[in-house]
Amino acid sequence: MSVLTNRNILIGISGGIAAYKCAELVRRLKDHQTNVRVVMTSAAKSFITPLTMQAVSGNPVADDLLDPAAEAAMGHIELAKWADLIVVAPASADVLARINAGMANDLLTTLILATDAPIALVPAMNQQMYKAPATVHNLAQLQQKQFHIWGPAQGEQACGDIGPGRMLEPAEILEHIQQQITAQDEATQSPQLLANTTVTITAGPTREALDPVRYISNHSSGKMGVALAQACLDLGAQVNLIHGPIQLPLPVNANAIAIESAQQMHDEALIHAKQSDIFIACAAVADYRPVDIADQKIKKSTDEITLRMVKNPDIVAAVAGLTEHRPFTVGFAAETQDVEKYAKDKMKRKKLDMICANDVSIAGQGFNSDNNALNVFWQNEHCSLPCASKTSLAMSLMKVIKQQFDNQK
Ligand code: PMT
Repeated sequence: MSVLTNRNILIGISGGIAAYKCAELVRRLKDHQTNVRVVMTSAAKSFITPLTMQAVSGNPVADDLLDPAAEAAMGHIELAKWADLIVVAPASADVLARINAGMANDLLTTLILATDAPIALVPAMNQQMYKAPATVHNLAQLQQKQFHIWGPAQGEQACGDIGPGRMLEPAEILEHIQQQITAQDEATQSPQLLANTTVTITAGPTREALDPVRYISNHSSGKMGVALAQACLDLGAQVNLIHGPIQLPLPVNANAIAIESAQQMHDEALIHAKQSDIFIACAAVADYRPVDIADQKIKKSTDEITLRMVKNPDIVAAVAGLTEHRPFTVGFAAETQDVEKYAKDKMKRKKLDMICANDVSIAGQGFNSDNNALNVFWQNEHCSLPCASKTSLAMSLMKVIKQQFDNQK
């Protein structure tokens, strides 16, 4: 039996050439004995027929909000309540705009307003349309409103353009659905696991100024730290999220504290860590900063320049070294070789309760990726969390952390 067996998945198809791939997606879902219902916009029917989707899903396709026969069979409110998850694939620029505006001018957008099920949007459109400011704005707002956005992929498009905007392949969408349903199961099984718990998380990169226009930084996107913050909120915790400059929507209910430099992150971390039960250092902190920050832009005058750097304070070590109000302290280790050895050395040297090691030399995980894999070490024990979306990985990691936090009390 698969995690998708007997689940109710509603596939919303909007108008785009990628709609033809939905037949394959539904077939793959049916392989898992998933209950699938399909809703199509009128534009979608120009790309794939309702009859095809009915044949592969085994259910009549709904496409009309005002059809008395369809309403009598399974009304739109009933359909909205039936779904465990709604996946809009392909999600055209038009449907994204209408969903973001909260419109209810066809069956699909009405269902989206009427459901309390999680909703995933799988964008597919021409690369120029995807990059258009209105689409960028809509996607950012939808993400902030807790819609899941899967993709798009890069590559050659039906129109001949090359760029971002291709719909993910059915197999990739299926994998996202499996991870999403697993995360939903985990959240319902332990919704209040972190009730009455305060968690402080550091996320993203720091920036060390060289002059008014330049800085030293790294490739951290903040995705892992933001996913941890969301997982903690979903599990009922109060969350302080101390983050460097990141381009991500922040979890709505987190106490978000924006910083730039390692020193600023250090100062905020110590204030909040002392009032927290758990501290998680996920940020990629610059180990060194320039000794002098030039008042004016440094001029290009010589062929070589020498930069004098000084060590930044070690934030997670400072938290772990607190003698009063010390939280359960978890570090991360980003390594490219001898991952286990270096991670364990860091845990010992920084006196951490736990360390989460990621091999950042592997393509498709680690820095600025949607996925990651972790090896978690504590005392003389360890567990492996295999490669998964950062959302689902964060939920699994929080359960491991919570268990060891309870054991240490
Ligand atoms: O942000 P993403 O793009 O999603 O990528 C996630 C990630 C790869 C950044 C994340 O998973 C990760 O590995 N974070 C730690 C990165 C890092 O800087 O590791 P490190 O091995 O250099 O540092 C070890 C630990 O000490 C970390 O917990 C770090 O936050 C902490 N540290 C480091 C230096 C410093 N001055 N103060 C610190 O607290």
